[in-house]
Amino acid sequence: MLYGAAATKTHLSNDAAFAAAFAAQCGILVPEVELKWDALRPTPDTYNFGPVDWLQHFAGAHQMKFRGHPLVWYQSLPKWFDTYVTQQNARDLMLTHVSTVVGRYARKVHSWDVVNEALDPNEKRPDGLRSKPWVNLIGPDYIDMAFHAAAQADPNAILVWNENHLETRESWAQAKRDAMLKNLQERLKRNVPIHAIGLQSHLPGTSPTFSYPEFTSFLRSVSDLGVKIIVSEMDVIDSDLPADPVARDQTVANVYYDYLSTVLREKSVVAILTWGISDRYTWIGGYKPRQDNAQARPLPLDTSYQPAPPWNAMVRAFEESSRT
Ligand code: XIL
Repeated sequence: MLYGAAATKTHLSNDAAFAAAFAAQCGILVPEVELKWDALRPTPDTYNFGPVDWLQHFAGAHQMKFRGHPLVWYQSLPKWFDTYVTQQNARDLMLTHVSTVVGRYARKVHSWDVVNEALDPNEKRPDGLRSKPWVNLIGPDYIDMAFHAAAQADPNAILVWNENHLETRESWAQAKRDAMLKNLQERLKRNVPIHAIGLQSHLPGTSPTFSYPEFTSFLRSVSDLGVKIIVSEMDVIDSDLPADPVARDQTVANVYYDYLSTVLREKSVVAILTWGISDRYTWIGGYKPRQDNAQARPLPLDTSYQPAPPWNAMVRAFEESSRT
């Protein structure tokens, strides 16, 4: 079982204690922002590979695997995108991006999030896809094209469809799970090389158990398609939890243990990544700020890079799942 986390070059290169703690805990690293188009594509004809190269070397130097995120996403697009990209040039732009980026790191990457957050059942499309911008620009087959281009550029990498909001009980989350399965079944039938799904797993701290039939049967259905599962961006959103840090940490740890115990029952789960590893560098404070402005505590290491209760909960879930 692989465990690892997201990090930025800024934090790893400027904070030696953090870099040491990260390397001590992780077996795989994913860039938090450096592979997104707004960071990687300053202009339509150029690439800013420096920060990604640095992270890939850091991973290699610390015996960690490296994974890429995301090749095609509707967010974090560069300023020039809306004025430059048209239905005439979008297909070539996307395919050149995929083959150039995947080609550069070929045979050095564990897995790629080829598409990210491509589903939005709220739009009521029959295929459950998010239309803007890629379906509007290229059509629903942009997903097939992106996976084929990635497979050609690196036949060794695990190619992943990464998605959010597949874990919880709301009706729209169920609609998303249904759309995910439907897309997998139809695209695998026409030999689209989708090897795994990514469960982002940004979990509400107020969640009841994840061991509920709609979710566990979804995981089983994915596995029955021969598709692997990666928990790709796990953290526990503690914004609505009581301020007391001891009680809050315990509640967060309980969610980690419950969720990991549930997903690790599926042998097709091949890696667990948290979105960051230390509360000092978490996106949660910006994404779901607390009313009381108290420090967010969604991750396994505290702000001094010491194991916090979620770390113990993860170890217990890993050991009990005998996946260590
Ligand atoms: C987030 C980063 O953590 C933030 O630093 C950035 O400002 C926005 O993106 N889903 C994803 C991730 O797939 O790429 C997002 O990361 C969090 C939600």
